[in-house]
Amino acid sequence: MSEASKYFIEFPKEGCVYASPNQTILEAALSAGVPLFHVCGGKAKCSTCRVLVIEGAEWLTPPNAKEKLLNDQMHFPRNVRLACQTHITGGSIKLARIIQDETDIGIYVGNSSGASSQQIGEERELVLFFLDIRNFTPLVEKLLPFDTIHIIRKLFLVFQNIIESNQGKIIETTGDGLYAVFGCDTGRVQSVQSAVKAASTILEDLVNINDSYFKIHFHENIQVGIGIHIGRVVSGVIRIGNEERMIVMGYPVNIASRLQNATKFLNNSLVVSSDIYGFLSDPPSSEPLTITLKGIENEQKVYLLGQKYS
Ligand code: FES
Repeated sequence: MSEASKYFIEFPKEGCVYASPNQTILEAALSAGVPLFHVCGGKAKCSTCRVLVIEGAEWLTPPNAKEKLLNDQMHFPRNVRLACQTHITGGSIKLARIIQDETDIGIYVGNSSGASSQQIGEERELVLFFLDIRNFTPLVEKLLPFDTIHIIRKLFLVFQNIIESNQGKIIETTGDGLYAVFGCDTGRVQSVQSAVKAASTILEDLVNINDSYFKIHFHENIQVGIGIHIGRVVSGVIRIGNEERMIVMGYPVNIASRLQNATKFLNNSLVVSSDIYGFLSDPPSSEPLTITLKGIENEQKVYLLGQKYS
């Protein structure tokens, strides 16, 4: 069969492959020197031949019974296919190998079996929520270690309950702050509303906790700063030891973090970007401010939705 009667597959940075209709992607790739893993020998048992479909999904044969069976166990996202079970029906296709080396087999097939889009990594829109406890370092210096940890535990329990009850997910905590996202399972408008509601509830509850507890027992008035932004980020899951953790990265994350930092010089406990404000169905009245954020190229229009610090 001439190359003209075969179909074209591009593996970016690895090479181009011509596949005839009776060849699987795996067979075509191996014959062209693209080293797709195939631990089970093409029997749809190992999943190491899986490929990410970047372009041309419509030119691939639908999953056969064997691929469906493995998919039922491993829950591949729709843009991941088994090269050993898939044929090309036309067009031009762009694919990427997912398993690149032996280590990847452990990551994707070993203990952390499964191949959700989160394990492969994906770009998605999320609401990014940064919270920091104000002036906590001087407080730590004058408190006993027990009291410091007790206060942190008490505060983080409140933050966590409020964030999670509003469908948020905490990604990271530092000693005196946290980073959460909203929108993993909800749409844009709902996620924005939920994040702002969580922020407002935290600020309100903190007033009550200060009055009923921290002022009485520690003579302290705990305050926080919260910054919220929305944007397209890269998210995925990594495994550290036995624990799987979600990671979220990208430029919008930096903006949200800087908005939290801006709560200090803007003297307001909740600063949101104009993108957030624009998605609020019943936004509180607030005049926009245009500010420069350290490390962020363009000026940002922001809204102050919290209270001045006391
Ligand atoms: S080679 Fe094992 S599932 Fe494809």
